[in-house]
Amino acid sequence: MKTIRSIKTMQRTARQAVAEGKSIALVPTMGFLHEGHLSLIGRAKKEADIVIVSIFVNPAQFGPREDLSRYPRDEKGDLKKIRAAGGDIAFLPKPRDVYPHGFQSWVTVEKLTQTLEGASRPRHFKGVTTVVAKLFNITRPDVVVFGMKDYQQAAVLRQMTGDLGYPIRFIVAPTVREPDGLAMSSRNRYFSDSQRAEAVCLYRALKSAKEMVKAGERQVSKIKREMIRAIKASCPGAEIDYIAFTDLKTLKPAREIVKETVCSLAVTVHQVRLIDNMRLL
Ligand code: PAF
Repeated sequence: MKTIRSIKTMQRTARQAVAEGKSIALVPTMGFLHEGHLSLIGRAKKEADIVIVSIFVNPAQFGPREDLSRYPRDEKGDLKKIRAAGGDIAFLPKPRDVYPHGFQSWVTVEKLTQTLEGASRPRHFKGVTTVVAKLFNITRPDVVVFGMKDYQQAAVLRQMTGDLGYPIRFIVAPTVREPDGLAMSSRNRYFSDSQRAEAVCLYRALKSAKEMVKAGERQVSKIKREMIRAIKASCPGAEIDYIAFTDLKTLKPAREIVKETVCSLAVTVHQVRLIDNMRLL
């Protein structure tokens, strides 16, 4: 496995791979890799000759009250994991190279970013779309793999990929969960053991919603009420940011559950903001 830190070297390496007729898969990450990321790398390996895993804690997607410096990092551990998972290139650009002095060009997706995470974190997606567009330009992937856990991010980036005409196949891989159901996330490491046990309340609420739908319920308002009850019961201190029922691709709100409806939620548990989602049918 190669580790590349320079944008120029990455561009040259990608150009050479394309010239040799090799296909490239990109897995963009912010590091502190867990099983969820490794499953994305595994999927990428099935899709292309060369797998590039980028690690870049993107300052532009953190809000002023979100602590960029507190974001967990473990470069050495990450490189080991990428190698073991079969990644070919780890790309770790420097913030000053991605956002050089005087940087002022941004990529924005207008409508899909107005709801859910976008409503709570106003500049977040502008940072995500800009950095991912830059990563696309630098690494020239044929395929890109994102996780379903950040389902709005996937919808926004799919839109950007189509709108800007990138010839990139877009794969969204399923969320990987801990044995008790908690979605894998780099943020889980902020919890103590007892707090960690409460963090499973998001998954429990989604499961209770799924049970209701299985029993025949289709009305969003009733399901939402039950989810709020389930969260308050298993995690009294939790602050619910939103519980939403939206269409998988358009993110338009649903009143009744249909096949394409995704239930997503953001909940702060012991000062850690968690997100999760599930298809209910
Ligand atoms: O999902 C993430 O880790 C980030 O938002 C991404 C896509 C790597 C962009 O910084």
